[in-house]
Amino acid sequence: MGVIHIKTNPNYPVIIEKGMFKKLRKSLKPFIKGKVMIITDENVHSYYGSDLLDQMNKNGIKWEMYIISPGEESKSLKVYSEIVEFMAENNIQRKDTVLAFGGGVVGDISGFVAGTFLRGIEYIQVPTTLLAAVDSSVGGKTAVNLKKGKNLVGIFNQPKAVLCDPDLLSTMEEKYFQDGVAESIKYGILFDRELFDEFQIPLDKKDERLSNIIEKCIEHKARVVEADELEKEERQILNLGHTIGHAIEKASNFKISHGHGVSIGTAMMARACEKLSILDKNDMKKIIEVIQKNGLPTQCNYSVEELLNHIESDKKCIGEEITIVEIKEIGKCRLNKIPINSFKYYLEKGME
Ligand code: GLY
Repeated sequence: MGVIHIKTNPNYPVIIEKGMFKKLRKSLKPFIKGKVMIITDENVHSYYGSDLLDQMNKNGIKWEMYIISPGEESKSLKVYSEIVEFMAENNIQRKDTVLAFGGGVVGDISGFVAGTFLRGIEYIQVPTTLLAAVDSSVGGKTAVNLKKGKNLVGIFNQPKAVLCDPDLLSTMEEKYFQDGVAESIKYGILFDRELFDEFQIPLDKKDERLSNIIEKCIEHKARVVEADELEKEERQILNLGHTIGHAIEKASNFKISHGHGVSIGTAMMARACEKLSILDKNDMKKIIEVIQKNGLPTQCNYSVEELLNHIESDKKCIGEEITIVEIKEIGKCRLNKIPINSFKYYLEKGME
């Protein structure tokens, strides 16, 4: 079992333990006081819903449950308002706890629901996807999307605990597992060449290395979030490949999923940084190779103009400026605030 303490305010543990789901009631107990308001999606519910409810019922834990449709489209103000209306109807109170049981979409909307319902109740993340395990369940970013862009309405709201059982990832659809691999490779490129090299052997959803990789990614994330919880500066480093990635997701009408968009974005930044002599050719090639080996895309099918249109509505773009993450070498990146016009040049170089 690995436990990482995230030293934010409040601080909380991330517990990583294979097989924990089978005794989730025990792991949950120290963190709950009243009823548990489970938020999950149809897929997760079909695999694990009845086991979860069995555990709750056998242990006298009172619960309510709201099931959303899987996918990014559920991260909307409409679904948000349906959930909070349901919670009000079912008399959820301040002492109760939201249980986000799912991937990034469930985690993000649940954290936003918990942080705003009755001006804030506690929530626990139980990630069921690799992406949620290595990234979105930790750090307290919660939000829903608007027509204009992703995550435009939200709050920073740290969970009470994150309970991660890597065995839950074994039922994931390959494409969504790869989304999490993309975010995990990101942590290697940002901070840790050894972690990056793990992906020279493609990661599998039943891989022995999973717990260890999740733990390493979260350790890196913890350091960044503790230094800059509200993303005023350093935390923006975690957005490597995301500015372009979000634009690609949006341009595809979310047919291209988050991690796939981020992979293309990271590959484009690697090519652009190499052309601008920030990154050497060998490291650039390795980045592209490793992304491809793990079944992820590296080429963008949208034009620079289309991407720029979407990028201008991104949160990372303030006025005429944008903060981008440049890759100096595998394991070392830096932030650079540049005029949006100059970013066009990076996009052009990244396409080549
Ligand atoms: N997913 C990036 C962050 O939490 O800041």
